[in-house]
Amino acid sequence: MKINDNFLKIQSSYLFSNIAKKVNAYTAANPDKPIIRLGIGDVTRPLAPACITAMHKAVDDMADEKTFMGYPPEYGHKWILKAIAENDYRARGVDIDESEIFLSDGAKSDCGNIGDILSVDNKVAVCDPVYPVYVDTNVMAGRSGDFVNGGWSNIYYMPCTAENNFLPSLPTEKVDIIYLCFPNNPTGMAITKTELKKWVDYANENGSLILFDSAYEAFITEDDVPHSIYEIEGAKTCAIEFRSFSKTAGFTGVRCGYTVVPHDLKADGTELNALWARRQATKFNGVSYITQRAAEAVYSEEGKKQIREIIAYYQNNAKVIYNGLKDCGFTVYGAKNSPYVWLKTPDNMGSWEFFDTLLNEIQVVGTPGEGFGPSGEGYFRLTAFGSAENTAAAVERIKNYFAK
Ligand code: MLT
Repeated sequence: MKINDNFLKIQSSYLFSNIAKKVNAYTAANPDKPIIRLGIGDVTRPLAPACITAMHKAVDDMADEKTFMGYPPEYGHKWILKAIAENDYRARGVDIDESEIFLSDGAKSDCGNIGDILSVDNKVAVCDPVYPVYVDTNVMAGRSGDFVNGGWSNIYYMPCTAENNFLPSLPTEKVDIIYLCFPNNPTGMAITKTELKKWVDYANENGSLILFDSAYEAFITEDDVPHSIYEIEGAKTCAIEFRSFSKTAGFTGVRCGYTVVPHDLKADGTELNALWARRQATKFNGVSYITQRAAEAVYSEEGKKQIREIIAYYQNNAKVIYNGLKDCGFTVYGAKNSPYVWLKTPDNMGSWEFFDTLLNEIQVVGTPGEGFGPSGEGYFRLTAFGSAENTAAAVERIKNYFAK
C-alpha cells in the first residue's frame, strides 16, 4: 500500500499542538511557576445556563422510549436549522433557506472537509498570516505544490500587514478558491461591507469561490462590518460560509457549527449544495441530539441575553489587553471586533523568540505570528478568552517586564 505522501510535506505537528508541547515541557520542568495561557483561542467561561438546561432536558429525552433519538438527520434537525435561518440570517435581512444550512461538529472540520467537493487543480489563495487549517488541509489534498522559501509554491499568498491595515489586496493573477476570515484570525482586524463587496465582485467576475469563515462574528461592534458574507449583494453566487458556536456560545468542547451553501452557487451548472449534501451524508452522521438542543437554546431569549453577557466579558478582556499593551508602548491591533489582539513584537524580536521570552521570563503563553504564515513574523497574538483575573495578571506581567 501507499500512503498519501502529501502528509510528508507538512510539519509533523499542528501549530497549536506544537505550542502545547512546549508549554507542557516548561511546566514539567518548572512546576512552581504558574502559567497564564492566552495562546489557543479556547474559551474559559462555562456554557450559558439556557444551554445547560436544554442539554439536561435532552438527556432526559434520551432516557425515555417516547422521546429517545437514534441517528440525527445528517444535516441537522428542522428546528435548529429554522432557528439559525431566522436568527443569524433573516434577522439581518438575509434570506437563507433551511436547505442551504448544514449543521456539523464545527467550523474547523468543515473548512478542512470542503476541499472534498473541489478539484485538486484549483489554485488556492490565502491571507498571510492565516488560520493554519486552510493551508494544511490543502497541502494534504495535494493542492499546495512544494514548500520553498517559506511558502507553498502553488498557493497564492495575500500578505496582511500593518502597511495594508491587514486587509488583503485583490489577487493579480487568476485564483479559483479564496479563503477569507473576518473578523480575522489571527490579526483580529475586520472588513467593512464596502471592502468585502470588492471580493464578491472579483469572485463573480472571475468564477472564483470564496470560502468565508465567520467564526468570530459575535465579537463585531461596528455597524459597517458584516456578520455574514451574504449581507453583500452577489455573495450567494460565489461564497460558502462557515459558522461556529465555539466562540459565539462557548461550544469549543461541545462541538457544533454549520456551513451555508446557497443553491445559487454553481460550477458549470452543478449546485455545490448538492455535492456538499452528498459528501456530508456519506462521511458525517450528524450532530448529537443533545448538542443540537444546546445550540437551539443559544437562540432562545434568555440564551441570547446570557451569551451577550459572556461575549461582553471577553470583549472587556480584549480591551484590557489592547489598552494595557498600548500604554506600555506596544503597537497593537485588533480587539475592537474580535477576541484577538495582534501586537508588533518589540525591538524587531522574532515571534518565536518573543514567545520563548514570555514563557520563560513571565510565564505567559501567546501564539507567535510566524506560526500563521511568513507575514506573521514580527507579530504575536494574545486571546481574550482567558478569565478576567488571568488576563489582567498577564498584562501586568508583560507591563512589568517590558517597562524594565
Ligand atoms: C485559534 O486559536 O486560532 C483557534 O482556537 C483555533 C480554532 O478555532 O480551531
